[in-house]
Amino acid sequence: MDVPSSSRNLRSILSSLTEARPGERAFATKEVSSVLMPQGQTLALSETEKVIAYLHKVTKTYDKQGRSLSIDLDIRQGDFLFITGISGAGKSTLLKMLYGEEKPTSGEVVVDGTRLNKLRGHSLSCLRRRIGVVFQDYKLLPRRTVAENVAFALQAQNFPKAEIRRRLLPTLKIVGLEEKAEHFPEQLSGGEQQRVAIARAIVHTPVLLLADEPTGNLDAGNTWSVLEILRQLNDMGVTIVVTTHDETIVQTFAKRVVTFEQNQLVELDVR
Ligand SMILES: Nc1ncnc2c1ncn2[C@@H]1O[C@H](COP(=O)(O)OP(=O)(O)O)[C@@H](O)[C@H]1O
Ligand SMILES: [Mg+2]
Repeated sequence: MDVPSSSRNLRSILSSLTEARPGERAFATKEVSSVLMPQGQTLALSETEKVIAYLHKVTKTYDKQGRSLSIDLDIRQGDFLFITGISGAGKSTLLKMLYGEEKPTSGEVVVDGTRLNKLRGHSLSCLRRRIGVVFQDYKLLPRRTVAENVAFALQAQNFPKAEIRRRLLPTLKIVGLEEKAEHFPEQLSGGEQQRVAIARAIVHTPVLLLADEPTGNLDAGNTWSVLEILRQLNDMGVTIVVTTHDETIVQTFAKRVVTFEQNQLVELDVR
């Protein structure tokens, strides 16, 4: 499996990104564990409890069914949070509220200091630049290479060309795909395609990485490699929220788990 073998390897790769250049947004921190945090943000120990996103007294009702979800959740910096629950429980809906795709019926949704309830248009685009999202079906551009798919995320945000070049290879190395930069999605396995999607979701150094059933289409081996990459990113300080209905994944990887029980989100004790 061509997955990076240890956090140490990742750290040496990432340390090449720590020098900011004039006029460029960069991985500007000496603290290697926080290289993937946005500029100026470091994961100081005192900050690990910082709440970077929350849903307070949130309800979400879909007219068709009249069923109402009720959610209270704090996401802390450095969390590796699993959201579980049966199909239809509300997992995707919760993630969609965190990236502004769905609005709550009542209550407050705040991400990185921005209230999402009524965000639209440009303000919503700005907020989404601070979030990375990975989907079950990868959503890659089929006629673009791996490198182009990842670079596209930065082009869309008007990153300078030099900065795009500087970020591209190290990010592909993180997901173990530097050798496949010029391949097209159809030439890759499902697991590799999902790793491209992860690279695309982290290349702009988001404050929060959301993954909706990221291993739902993968076999056991690829599931493990994708989760291992997420775990290593989390070790480097990236805050990660993953939905899954797969109990084995939760038991193996869980640091913190919340689940829907009778339409209400509850925290599970995993220790
Ligand atoms: N746009 C929508 N309109 C109406 N009902 C929806 C919509 N999206 C999801 N639902 C319903 O909301 C519930 C939660 O869906 P979802 O969040 O996708 O669940 P999960 O991801 O846990 O499988 C389901 O009953 C689903 O049918
Ligand atoms: Mg879902």
